[in-house]
Amino acid sequence: MTLPSSGTHPIQIEQDVVLARQLARKLSQQCGMRLIDLTKLVTAVSELARNTMVYGGGGHMDWQIIEEPARTGLRLLFRDEGPGIADLKLALTDGWTSGSGLGLGLTGARRLVDEFELDTAPGQGTRVAITRWV
Ligand SMILES: Nc1ncnc2c1ncn2[C@@H]1O[C@H](COP(=O)(O)OP(=O)(O)OP(=O)(O)O)[C@@H](O)[C@H]1O
Ligand SMILES: [Mg+2]
Repeated sequence: MTLPSSGTHPIQIEQDVVLARQLARKLSQQCGMRLIDLTKLVTAVSELARNTMVYGGGGHMDWQIIEEPARTGLRLLFRDEGPGIADLKLALTDGWTSGSGLGLGLTGARRLVDEFELDTAPGQGTRVAITRWV
């Protein structure tokens, strides 16, 4: 079954995180991504979807397959309307967590993709967009 080139997937409970991973895997395959890059992307999705659920209080993963003349890419946007992140620099520091995590999710995800954009403010929710080019 071919997935549409764009869509949205809710992230509320643990099972949605599992489904987000599966969705990212299928979309990556559909884009013709190499297995190593697919694995990196799915790992990033795990981290970001979990943050959306745990800290954001739930949200969505929007996907978009980008078709450019010279390249194809997969862009994923994780968005929530939770508390947002007060200190972005701190949140992007290896090992810093406000909870009981390892504090490696955001920094790890950032290293695993080609493009990483984080847009957040206290009370404004959080949006993290990642892109992996094929
Ligand atoms: N969607 C979000 N909304 C609000 N705060 C967030 C969100 N995502 C991350 N954060 C904040 O950024 C911190 C760092 O996130 P990161 O994923 O790097 O580590 P962690 O989730 O604490 O631990 P790990 O992911 O290693 O288990 C979190 O502890 C949290 O305070
Ligand atoms: Mg995390």
